[in-house]
Amino acid sequence: MDHLSRTFGHDAVEPAVRRARVRAVFDAIAVRYDLMNDLMSGFMHRGWKARFVAGVTAPVEGPIVDLAGGTGDIAERLLRRMPGREVAIVDPSTAMLGVAARRLGPKVPLVAAEGEALPFTDASLGAMTLAFGLRNMTEPGRAMAEAFRALKPGARLHILEFSQPDRWFEWPYRLYSRITIPLLGALVARDRNAYRYLVDSIEIFPSAEDVSQTLADAGFVDVRVEKLMFGVAAIHVASKPAE
Ligand SMILES: C[S@@+](CC[C@H](N)C(=O)[O-])C[C@H]1O[C@@H](n2cnc3c(N)ncnc32)[C@H](O)[C@@H]1O
Repeated sequence: MDHLSRTFGHDAVEPAVRRARVRAVFDAIAVRYDLMNDLMSGFMHRGWKARFVAGVTAPVEGPIVDLAGGTGDIAERLLRRMPGREVAIVDPSTAMLGVAARRLGPKVPLVAAEGEALPFTDASLGAMTLAFGLRNMTEPGRAMAEAFRALKPGARLHILEFSQPDRWFEWPYRLYSRITIPLLGALVARDRNAYRYLVDSIEIFPSAEDVSQTLADAGFVDVRVEKLMFGVAAIHVASKPAE
């Protein structure tokens, strides 16, 4: 998956340029991000996120990190499901974290960092969630290795990400996403290019099988995948082996 490091949507760019551009996209759209998610997906992302968070069991003690946690949507759901559990958000976009701070208040620690260089000691986390963030990472393989390092033995990494739809659904889905999403981006978020990037990054993202292989390469075991809406999105759950 690390070939993604030289792409920005369909453009070929250097990794440092990609990093800066991805951060600029999310800084630019942060304030309208949640509204746009509702409009673009016809509220469907809420159902996917509810299903995703319902599957987070976190049997190992320790903080749960919501990586690429953005505006705090997943962290808020985790806290509702597991009150009393410590949940922290990690994300490099300070604008996205600013929205999370207003939404969640001081009870949730916010950490400005990238998944490729997590500021946590080895084997310190009880679980990690990562929703719609993996495809934005410049080095997804390195981020998976970092997650593996920071999780405690027996802890799980839960990933929700767009994927490649079943063949018959590809055409209507691509048509919808190429036309409607940039249009909504222009009208509502006033940033057509940012939403063009989001559509492109979904189109070029590898299959669920490739994501599973990357997780296995990082050392995770018991890697499971559940496809949602004819493969449009997928939930991956992977465990760090217990000692
Ligand atoms: C599509 S948003 C998802 C936000 C949230 N998880 C949700 O599901 O609503 C993607 C997030 O990934 C973050 N991101 C981009 N590059 C990242 C990286 N290298 N490491 C961690 N997060 C990253 C962005 O800043 C953005 O907040």
